[in-house]
Amino acid sequence: MANVELRGLVRAFPDGTRIGPVNLEVQDGELMTLLGPSGSGKTTTLRMIAGFIDVDDGELLFDTSNVIDIPPRERNIGMVFQSVALFPNMTVYQNIAFGPEMAEWERKDTIERVEELAELLGIRHLLMRRTSEISGGEAQRVAVARALAKRPNLLLLDEPLSALDPQLREHLQTEIRHIQKKLGITTIYVTHSQDEAFAISDRVAIIDDGRIVQVGTPEELYDRPANEFVARFLGSGNVLEGVVMKNEGGKQCMDIKGLEIPISGEHILGQTIKLSVKPEDISISTKNIPTNGSGKIISIIPQVGSFKVTLDFHGIPIIALTYDENLVKLLRKYGDRLVSFSFDPELAVILKG
Ligand SMILES: Nc1ncnc2c1ncn2[C@@H]1O[C@H](COP(=O)(O)OP(=O)(O)OP(=O)(O)O)[C@@H](O)[C@H]1O
Ligand SMILES: [Mg+2]
Repeated sequence: MANVELRGLVRAFPDGTRIGPVNLEVQDGELMTLLGPSGSGKTTTLRMIAGFIDVDDGELLFDTSNVIDIPPRERNIGMVFQSVALFPNMTVYQNIAFGPEMAEWERKDTIERVEELAELLGIRHLLMRRTSEISGGEAQRVAVARALAKRPNLLLLDEPLSALDPQLREHLQTEIRHIQKKLGITTIYVTHSQDEAFAISDRVAIIDDGRIVQVGTPEELYDRPANEFVARFLGSGNVLEGVVMKNEGGKQCMDIKGLEIPISGEHILGQTIKLSVKPEDISISTKNIPTNGSGKIISIIPQVGSFKVTLDFHGIPIIALTYDENLVKLLRKYGDRLVSFSFDPELAVILKG
């Protein structure tokens, strides 16, 4: 097993697209997820790690040795690709045994390893089937088993569950997490789904336009997004823009369309800054409170266990979550009347640039 460190990895494509420099440290045994929108460079980063594409610059450290000049097959990495391609005319057994056989393992060691992985992934009954005779979810499991067969130091999984229905996806997420922890294998998992990333990861690295913009545990990222991209991408919901000013007591605050919000830190007066506030931290009320903001209701959407209420505050949508069914009943009859909202400034995060 290994610590993995990406140090300034860069890959530029002839059309001018540039991925990197990518910097990331993954601890031994950790499940790190690369999370970012389509085209942000997730697959390219995995391919740089695996050695399938040349790197223009940077180092890749496994523990302390730089493996950037080592050919892919000697890096001892297991990979599941974005579109699972099993060997079609082979059985499940032959697919999983492929790596060990290529590496000329003893036959009995190969058999033992295939059986062990088949057991772990719940595909023992499929071993003698051809891969054309198994379902999509089963194929994903076979692909994971095949990637693990040679006991790699590092496992790379590129959106392995994206083709599956939500229930099976959730089930396999739990299984992958379980297997990863059981084997203690350092893993880099790629997805563009926040739910998936948060469900399975020890830590998540957010990638935007070829660069990693923030790394943290799901809680850290959700509670303290570093910039507007992260706040919006993680659906933290409300990004409020305002101007720094001083309140009557001489303390710095932020003016958001006439709403005064106390802020921490020293800022340049007159500067525009942005604040991220989570929907669950915004409370709404039918009482008219002068110091609160207020707006008309745009929508009320029921969600699992809560309601998402959106208000129009001078053209800015304010999203609040409420669990109060009686309040929602009242709001549904509200029409064009104003609803007030407030939040604890301590729970808001000032976003960088
Ligand atoms: N071989 C290539 N030649 C030119 N451009 C490429 C090549 N491979 C990738 N790109 C570009 O690099 C950028 C990143 O692509 P990449 O496949 O890494 O994105 P991704 O984050 O994996 O996206 P997705 O979620 O859609 O899989 C894209 O703009 C893509 O068009
Ligand atoms: Mg991709």
